[in-house]
Amino acid sequence: MRKVQVNVFFLLLFLSLSSASDQKWRKAMMSAYNGSSSSSSMMMNRVGSSILFPIHGNVYPTGYYNVTINIGHPPKPYFLDLDTGSDLTWLQCNAPCVRCIEAPHPLYQPSNDLVACRHPLCAALQPPDYKCESPDQCDYVVDYADGGSSLGVLVRDVFSLNYTNGVRLSPRLALGCGYDQIPGTSYHPLDGILGLGRGKSSIVSQLQSQGLVRNVVGHCLSGRGGGFLFFGDGLYDSSHVTWTSMSQEKYYSPGSAELHFGGKATGIKKLIVIFDSGSSYTYLNSQAYQELTLLLKKELSGRSLKEAPEDRTLPLCWKGRKPFRSVHDAKKYFKTSLALAFANSGRRKTQFELHPEAYLIISNKGNVCLGILNGTQVGLRDWNVIGDISMQDRMVVYDNEKQVIGWSPANCDHLPRFKSAYYM
Ligand SMILES: *[C@@H]1O[C@H](CO)[C@@H](O)[C@H](O)[C@H]1NC(C)=O
Ligand SMILES: *[C@@H]1O[C@H](CO)[C@@H](O)[C@H](O)[C@H]1NC(C)=O
Ligand SMILES: *[C@@H]1O[C@H](CO)[C@@H](O)[C@H](O)[C@H]1NC(C)=O
Ligand SMILES: *[C@@H]1O[C@H](CO)[C@@H](O)[C@H](O)[C@H]1NC(C)=O
Repeated sequence: MRKVQVNVFFLLLFLSLSSASDQKWRKAMMSAYNGSSSSSSMMMNRVGSSILFPIHGNVYPTGYYNVTINIGHPPKPYFLDLDTGSDLTWLQCNAPCVRCIEAPHPLYQPSNDLVACRHPLCAALQPPDYKCESPDQCDYVVDYADGGSSLGVLVRDVFSLNYTNGVRLSPRLALGCGYDQIPGTSYHPLDGILGLGRGKSSIVSQLQSQGLVRNVVGHCLSGRGGGFLFFGDGLYDSSHVTWTSMSQEKYYSPGSAELHFGGKATGIKKLIVIFDSGSSYTYLNSQAYQELTLLLKKELSGRSLKEAPEDRTLPLCWKGRKPFRSVHDAKKYFKTSLALAFANSGRRKTQFELHPEAYLIISNKGNVCLGILNGTQVGLRDWNVIGDISMQDRMVVYDNEKQVIGWSPANCDHLPRFKSAYYM
């Protein structure tokens, strides 16, 4: 495979700048620790050591949420797609680029700090018996469920991040320099992908192994657009979160679920569900999708909503007497509650409720459309995917250390408050 072009001048410049800023950062950390001696110091450190990012985007019409991350020396901003369904963070990269998709920013100029082929971070992205064609570099390929892919090499570079207490940090983290991308069916015009999955190569896992943050990822996607993302466990009250254990090695999955409609079990069970912020809509396998659409159609029969097959926004749309302006206007037709009930190893079932806002959108024609789609049709086979639409207006937390996933209702329009009075 291809090698990254080496630019010696850039490398030298880079090294001298980075050690200077590392020292500055260590000093800041020390004063942070020295400043906290009261009994609430544990709490303050916990809050302080979370990293918070505002995010932009919406389910419809944009179709994704993006976060700005500053990478490199000097730091440059990149717009990244939030993806809890994959591990690797990568940027469209000038190595030089073979196939890049039009991006908001100039292509990333890779650092020359290559991750070696036998490094654990490289191994985490490869099949178990992988071969190293060139031992000093890590070639990767990531294939996404929508048919898209990124091919490139792993490099290390500086990420400019801030703790919520204002302390800056600039760790060197491995990322993909993607020089050959194939867009998938859900292609988004961004600079790359922020992989937030469970694997070793994810940014949060790397931050944890450097002792900088707990391996916890959370997001709060606002139904009105925007919201926030965070790393670390200082920004939520655990006792207000509904927790379930993670049941799957590779993805964030609370296990298998049963579909409930109107508070009752539908008999559609053993649904393997994964939480995937990289998907804007929710997907059920063909059988569950069919059952759900039948139940909804039955509920709507005799009401003034009529199917609107001419509206191609999503496979199933309905027209009202007059155009709807918001899901709120259409809610009265969708009164029957919908939920996924997770059997949590014998304990009381944990419900993930789907309010109308969590499965409906209003198309630009003013019709109301079902945001739960047929996963079998897009090749998800038996996976059922909880996408952005169903995670709106709640905080979803993935705690990789305790191996639990949780959610709680939240207002995602404002960044969470933290004790800025304790600025350290
Ligand atoms: C923090 O405290 C340690 C030990 O008391 C001291 O050696 C160090 O200089 C202090 N650091 C700062 C930045 O105040
Ligand atoms: C991504 O988010 C930034 C703000 O962080 C916003 O200015 C930008 O328009 C967004 N980019 C895209 C392509 O949606
Ligand atoms: C970190 O904080 C500094 C100073 O407040 C600010 O200039 C910078 O933009 C922040 N960086 C990020 C990545 O938020
Ligand atoms: C879902 O998609 C599969 C594969 O395309 C198809 O066979 C099935 O009929 C679809 N189910 C429904 C209920 O539309």
